[in-house]
Amino acid sequence: MNMNSKVLVYIWVYIIFHYALADENQLYYVMSSGNDDNSGTTQTNAWRTIQKAASKAIAGSTVYIGPGTYYETITILVQGNLFNGSITFTSLMPDNPAIISGENATVASPDGTLNLIYIENKSYLNIINLELANLKGSECSGVRIVGGGTRIELRNLHIHDILGGGKTGGAMAITVYNKNQETSLSKLIIDNCTLYDCEPAWSEALTLNGNIELFQVTNNRVYNMNNIGIDFIGGESNMGALGARSGQCYYNTVWNIHSSYDSSAAGIYVDGGSDINIGKNEVYNSDAGIEIGAENQGRIASGMVVHENYIHDNDKAGLLFGGYDFERGRVINSTFQNNRLENNDVKHTEAGEIVVSFASNNFVYSNAIKPNIKNIILTVDQIGGLDNVFNRQSYYPNGSNANESNLIFNWGNQQYRGLSAFQNATQQELQASVLSSKAGLIRYPSMLCILPLIITFIASAKAY
Ligand SMILES: *[C@@H]1O[C@H](CO)[C@@H](O)[C@H](O)[C@H]1NC(C)=O
Ligand SMILES: *[C@@H]1O[C@H](CO)[C@@H](O)[C@H](O)[C@H]1NC(C)=O
Ligand SMILES: *[C@@H]1O[C@H](CO)[C@@H](O)[C@H](O)[C@H]1NC(C)=O
Ligand SMILES: *[C@@H]1O[C@H](CO)[C@@H](O)[C@H](O)[C@H]1NC(C)=O
Ligand SMILES: *[C@@H]1O[C@H](CO)[C@@H](O)[C@H](O)[C@H]1NC(C)=O
Ligand SMILES: *[C@@H]1O[C@H](CO)[C@@H](O)[C@H](O)[C@H]1NC(C)=O
Ligand SMILES: *[C@@H]1O[C@H](CO)[C@@H](O)[C@H](O)[C@H]1NC(C)=O
Ligand SMILES: *[C@@H]1O[C@H](CO)[C@@H](O)[C@H](O)[C@H]1NC(C)=O
Repeated sequence: MNMNSKVLVYIWVYIIFHYALADENQLYYVMSSGNDDNSGTTQTNAWRTIQKAASKAIAGSTVYIGPGTYYETITILVQGNLFNGSITFTSLMPDNPAIISGENATVASPDGTLNLIYIENKSYLNIINLELANLKGSECSGVRIVGGGTRIELRNLHIHDILGGGKTGGAMAITVYNKNQETSLSKLIIDNCTLYDCEPAWSEALTLNGNIELFQVTNNRVYNMNNIGIDFIGGESNMGALGARSGQCYYNTVWNIHSSYDSSAAGIYVDGGSDINIGKNEVYNSDAGIEIGAENQGRIASGMVVHENYIHDNDKAGLLFGGYDFERGRVINSTFQNNRLENNDVKHTEAGEIVVSFASNNFVYSNAIKPNIKNIILTVDQIGGLDNVFNRQSYYPNGSNANESNLIFNWGNQQYRGLSAFQNATQQELQASVLSSKAGLIRYPSMLCILPLIITFIASAKAY
């Protein structure tokens, strides 16, 4: 390295550290005792409204919000950047988080919907440790993110009582919509949030819809919703061709998800998304467990890897994939592996644990399946379901002396009673095993094929 390069490196290092340190130290305060005419830079000179901070905070700063209830609907007008870092909005006292309440709220966001926090075309924002509650409207959200951008993180949010959704719009906890085809919304993280008691009605509690990639929806709890829990959407007519894709959905727990209008809401649903890994989630006591589909005609959902989820005690099937009729899309090239399906179809719809329709070239491998007393394993559609591969499942027949002959497979127009009859007739499941329920714990099958896990953005573990 010659002298000039050394000097250049020195200058760059100086600049990077100087600005990085300078901006990380910029703090702002919002307190219920504050005043928006203050500087906002100390606790005694705190601002009164979160909106003031959302209009003034500079890149790299942290906005601390004191305890108390803030009656605001906020539009975030600022953003961070790669050079100076993200802007963080968080509670001053994490054990006594600030509450943003929508009680009597009427001030709509720029897009006309009503939201507690609204973000459009912004990047580098962290929203952490806040409670968002009590909003009422026919189309409203706790947090609504619209448009393209990168690196938005929602962590440790408690969002509840977002109410009043109907057929034309939902009352949702978190909605992320991007119809911009040129700029994706990338590296979105929604982690460790608790979402409950909302009325998404014909929409979903947590939804990613449109041009959204490299996302991570992890460690969230979603419960008591009157429609779908978590949804990844692509192909809606007004949203452009690009859908939610190349993302991770891991370690979420979803329960008490019951549609108010058709009793078939899944805890976790993909509607036309692609290349999404859905793993290690638990879904129970809902209308259905995990469903991969494509509601819009001509749309294909592909490249999904659904693995190691624990899906149990749902009213209808535990695992469903495919477009559900001729008017819908298709599901292809996806893998459903090493999931644990237990006592689904509680309402005895006679469909069993797994339902397949309008889907092809998918692989269902090495799942552990403990059916309810009816012992119905699967229902596969005659017209659009037979071209998929099932193998190496572990079956646990239900009943004191039950054995393989009790298992029921609805395969196209035929019903097979007994695993051997099914194997013989279809050449599926040739390496399945039948184990005794009495053995107690599920013996997980070993991993028999390499998961085509996509490599995506993984956030660094960060404590707040
Ligand atoms: C980064 O922060 C410094 C100091 O506040 C400011 O002068 C500069 O304009 C900022 N740069 C960007 C890209 O935000
Ligand atoms: C909301 O409106 C009701 C009825 O007018 C009133 O009693 C209540 O105090 C209002 N709440 C807030 C936070 O403004
Ligand atoms: C967001 O970006 C889209 C696409 O460029 C643009 O149409 C829209 O007006 C932008 N919204 C705002 C609030 O800047
Ligand atoms: C995740 O959320 C829970 C419940 O709000 C909280 O107790 C826990 O501290 C959070 N975990 C992290 C790593 O912040
Ligand atoms: C599905 O997989 C086949 C190979 O099995 C491949 O030719 C095709 O391009 C894939 N389609 C999609 C949409 O991934
Ligand atoms: C058999 O199914 C019933 C529900 O139909 C369930 O309660 C029971 O736990 C199952 N038995 C075993 C051993 O899994
Ligand atoms: C399996 O179960 C069937 C029906 O319950 C019974 O008839 C048959 O004897 C059992 N077979 C064995 C090997 O226990
Ligand atoms: C196997 O299938 C053949 C016809 O495909 C049938 O004749 C035979 O009875 C079947 N055996 C069993 C055990 O189901």
